[in-house]
Amino acid sequence: MTSKTNHLWGGRFNEPTDEFVKIFSASISFDKALALYDIEGSIAHATMLNEVEVLTDFELKEILDGLNQIKSEIISGEFNWSTDLEDVHMNIESRLTEICGEPGKKLHTGRSRNDQVATDIRLYLRDNVVMINQELTKLLNALLDLAEQENNTIMPGYTHLQAAQPITFGHHLLAYFEMFKRDRERLQESFKRINTMPLGSAALAGTSYPINRERTAELLGFERISQNSLDAVSDRDFAIEFASNASLIMMHLSRFSEELIIWSSAQFDFISLPDSFCTGSSIMPQKKNPDVPELVRGKTGRVTGNLISLLTLMKGQPLAYNKDNQEDKEPLFDSVETIYSCLRIFADMVPKIQAKKENMLNSAIKGYTTATDLADYLVKQGLPFRDAHDIVGKAVAYGIKSNKDLSEFTLDELQEFNSKISSEVFDAISLKGSINSRDHLGGTSPKQILSAIKVGRNSIK
Ligand code: ARG
Repeated sequence: MTSKTNHLWGGRFNEPTDEFVKIFSASISFDKALALYDIEGSIAHATMLNEVEVLTDFELKEILDGLNQIKSEIISGEFNWSTDLEDVHMNIESRLTEICGEPGKKLHTGRSRNDQVATDIRLYLRDNVVMINQELTKLLNALLDLAEQENNTIMPGYTHLQAAQPITFGHHLLAYFEMFKRDRERLQESFKRINTMPLGSAALAGTSYPINRERTAELLGFERISQNSLDAVSDRDFAIEFASNASLIMMHLSRFSEELIIWSSAQFDFISLPDSFCTGSSIMPQKKNPDVPELVRGKTGRVTGNLISLLTLMKGQPLAYNKDNQEDKEPLFDSVETIYSCLRIFADMVPKIQAKKENMLNSAIKGYTTATDLADYLVKQGLPFRDAHDIVGKAVAYGIKSNKDLSEFTLDELQEFNSKISSEVFDAISLKGSINSRDHLGGTSPKQILSAIKVGRNSIK
């Protein structure tokens, strides 16, 4: 029996699909990225069908041989992808039937492309999350190493991008460690929801064959099995959750990028980025542009966009599967590829960041960054904090007028502002004194940083 249109579903059709409709509906140009996962899913499905005696041993063998042959054809690049066959599932099934005839036609028993594609995406994402997690862990370790190396390096800490209080570069780097550590926790936590098997839900209602879903799940290494067939074929929460986690990672990378870009400018000159991660200008010979962080900052937009695309894709869909869902792949694949490459490039670049300690130190004292320490000193001499704040404000105003930092005032000058000030004040308002005094959990003292690094290393083991 031949049909006038697609031989996999064309039985009830009287005219062939419009040529442009074929192109418009085809997903093969992008969903072929799922090919090996599709084969893995089919192998497990067929094996289970044989165990429950829906497929004979002969049929199973033919199917497995055929699928393995197709796998080699795909890997070697010989496989002939056809837009006429719409998507990756039908391309592979059609080739299987070409190779082994009748048994190939039986592979789709008790299955639909709806549960098949949901399974493929989950297998794809599961693998990729493992790879992304590896790069994220590398980046976390690189941040810890650099923080350890720079635990004593003093720099200005900012609020409103105005110099606020001295901190150490190590402390600043550990702030990013915390962000990426939370990202890693989120990614790992989401894994069990990705690692849930929809196969067996068939088109939407399940199947009348005596399938053994536990067995298929075991063969595919799924931790859980979906509990409702309608939900299973239409659920893309796991993809949205990933896109959201990816957006948070990119937002953090983008903030870090922004700082690297500012710090490597001639005006700040706090760090130098490795030459191998920068580019020059075709007109200005002096330029060394921080392209890598700029591109990462730029790519953040598309990853956020992908999250919005997926949320919008799902919001109006009635149960169960709708063809809309074919649009889930490109944003998901794009977020996976973008996040992987951005994390990888940062993990490679961070160990090569060089701190310009002198410049950081010189900048740390500018802007009266130890004014709070002077106020705290006065509080320790018995003044209420508000009064101390006011006195130091006046001292800063005097410093601005006379072009001196607080630490450059003579004792006499300081005593003009309050008679309780004595010579130990100079220790309290020095950069080192300021940093060392913030010696509690979460504070910037070098001692605290070393212990935070220890805790950090244990937390990502
Ligand atoms: N290419 C389709 C997708 O990506 C596969 C599922 C098609 N199912 C269907 N009932 N037309 O979603």
